[in-house]
Amino acid sequence: MNFEKIHLQEVDSTNDFIHRLELNEFFAQNKVPVVSADYQTSGKGAGQNTWQSIEKLNLLMSIAINPLIKAKDQFLISKIISLSIVDLLKSYGIESHIKWPNDILVGRKKIAGILIENVVSSDILSQSIIGIGLNTNQIYFDNLPKSISMSFITNITYNLEDVQNKLLEHFEFWYNQIKNADIIDNVYISNLFGTNDFFEYKYKNDFFDAKITNVDEFGRLMLEDRNGAKFVFNFKEVDMIY
Ligand code: BTN
Repeated sequence: MNFEKIHLQEVDSTNDFIHRLELNEFFAQNKVPVVSADYQTSGKGAGQNTWQSIEKLNLLMSIAINPLIKAKDQFLISKIISLSIVDLLKSYGIESHIKWPNDILVGRKKIAGILIENVVSSDILSQSIIGIGLNTNQIYFDNLPKSISMSFITNITYNLEDVQNKLLEHFEFWYNQIKNADIIDNVYISNLFGTNDFFEYKYKNDFFDAKITNVDEFGRLMLEDRNGAKFVFNFKEVDMIY
């Protein structure tokens, strides 16, 4: 892939910055813009959340691609970036799992978050902005007891540019598999958190125990409760308590 890297000292959000570029011009030249920053003044998390990160300590980056796959297959992008982060961490000796739909966990703590913003036209995914916040060298997470970083685990201080380059290598590998959805699905499910044990889930005001059996082609979570009853949930419909 022909990555075109842009590094900024400060930006509102790398996702918003990349969105403001003339992406069609990059795509026409087969270039893949990648924007990273030392600091974000309005880092965005999933839903209404913000993404806080101390200056220069963590990887904050966005990649813009034009996958041209069917809109219904768009969750493949989430699988691809999730697997890329899991492989990246593995290359540093860190075991991680994917928490559906957009977190990477080490143990039960979050090491990375993913924010994907898609544009669909005529049933084709024409643009996908993939934002990644990877906790790298930050050791203290005030008021975020469920966060962890690479440095916290290994005691090593990482060069953020090296980490970024490695992540792009893994991303390129998985993105090249995009036509092999079966392979991606199999590896994804085997790296998913919550497939081996029962966890408590909250749906509206109900709590129930369930185990993940799969994530379907639309990215929906498939659960089975202790009685063997099966359920399918869309994003944000259900919360895992962990
Ligand atoms: C989440 O877990 O809620 C998703 C967090 C995504 C954060 C990254 S940091 C780089 C990119 N720019 C943003 O504003 N958000 C994403």
